[in-house]
Amino acid sequence: MTDRLAAVVLAAGMGTRMKSERPKVLHPVAGKPMIDWALDAAVAVGADPVVVVTAPGQQAVRDAVAGRAATAIQEQALGTGDAVKPARDALAAIAAAGGTVLVLYGDTPMITPATLARMVEARAAHERPAVVVLGFEPADPALYGRLVLGADHGLDRIVEARDAGPVEREIGLCNGGVMAIDAAELFPMLDAIGNANAKGEFYLTDIVGIARARDRRCAVVTCEPIEPMGVDSRAGLAAAEAAMQARLRAAAMAEGATLVAPETVFLSHDTRLGRDVTVHPHVVFGLGVTVADGAEIRSFSHLEGARVATGAIVGPYARLRPGADIGEGAHIGNFVEIKNATVEAGAKANHLSYVGDARIGAGANIGAGTITCNYDGFAKHHTDIGAGAFIGSNTALVAPVRVGDGAIVGAGSTVTRDVAADAMTVVRGEERTIAGGAARFRSRRSKPAGPGTGKS
Ligand code: UD1
Ligand code: MG
Repeated sequence: MTDRLAAVVLAAGMGTRMKSERPKVLHPVAGKPMIDWALDAAVAVGADPVVVVTAPGQQAVRDAVAGRAATAIQEQALGTGDAVKPARDALAAIAAAGGTVLVLYGDTPMITPATLARMVEARAAHERPAVVVLGFEPADPALYGRLVLGADHGLDRIVEARDAGPVEREIGLCNGGVMAIDAAELFPMLDAIGNANAKGEFYLTDIVGIARARDRRCAVVTCEPIEPMGVDSRAGLAAAEAAMQARLRAAAMAEGATLVAPETVFLSHDTRLGRDVTVHPHVVFGLGVTVADGAEIRSFSHLEGARVATGAIVGPYARLRPGADIGEGAHIGNFVEIKNATVEAGAKANHLSYVGDARIGAGANIGAGTITCNYDGFAKHHTDIGAGAFIGSNTALVAPVRVGDGAIVGAGSTVTRDVAADAMTVVRGEERTIAGGAARFRSRRSKPAGPGTGKS
């Protein structure tokens, strides 16, 4: 039988160095708020409940996680040891039943479910360690807590950098901030923490020494230095974004997508690229994009909330906005914007168009400069273009309007009435030609202006 598992996500720190109106943990990394990275990782390993600890003023954080996590309020930021205490009521059941409580931070988005799973597993080892701590070896141990190992290679205690002596400060193995703790022991140990230390705070890290004094073992599970990386500032946020992008790119390539220049492609946490998708340099995937097998996304395109079917070609310089649904083998070319529109199989819009609130039937051809005039200043209206229709260049389709299957619209038309299937519509001002008019115009202009004729 596997132990019961719960998680506490600490997010009550002030995050002052972000200099932001927005609580730190709501800043997104790869399009997902940092708190959700922690929450989702906890849920992925089966933690239930997950309790998010916030500061009193962080209603926005409580709202953001509502329905997905329980919330608790730490009245004052008295330290990480104090921060877990407000979760006591939400964890009463698991504390009584026994099991494991994961403690993680809301500002470390790189922690993976796989690492959490290894920690939970280590708790189940036969010595039943009371505390499993995530350890790592940072390039610069700076202000991280140092992990002091005992003769048996178990974990003896954690010393915070500010409280460390010269020998302890030399230790390279540091506290990554995640712990897996015996649920039955958690609150009794928290109650035993004092604040007689350099920061005058209640250190969660003290529970290791407390568990050892009670003759319980503690253990370390290590991870790559990238995982515990925390975000304290805008620069830290950018560093986390870069690390997450590297991870997402590697995952996309591992799944069989070609990224010609991976470091120039920006993905969201939910971007889905199929096999043999080719993404050329400098493409941005906003939230909610799925690209099916074999499609090609060319350079300088921006996609968001869009679906691209097998074999379609998008870009260069295309913009797909939410609701763009690009069918099999369709082509969306340069300076074409598609919003809330279905482009059916094999249809083409290759140059300089806006297609919004529309359906483009299979195999239809949308000429350069075609615009769906979908907005009248009050409401959006739909344009429907039938299969195999041909829309000449520089056509304005004033919605609501329908063009039937196989119809042809002549270049330069402003179409305000429905066009029947297989009909041909041309809407243009009359073309007037004056024979020799250009030559006469030039000769008038090239004569010197006579007296009284004013300025030329
Ligand atoms: C902590 C650890 C340190 C570890 C490091 C890893 C302690 C005492 N130290 O230090 O060993 O190497 O993380 O990054 O635990 N928080 C609250 N309420 C508080 C204080 C903090 O909710 O009263 C939250 C913060 O929002 C943050 C997390 O706890 O998400 C960690 O707090 P932080 O102040 O960053 O701890 P460190 O000093 O970095
Ligand atoms: Mg920190």
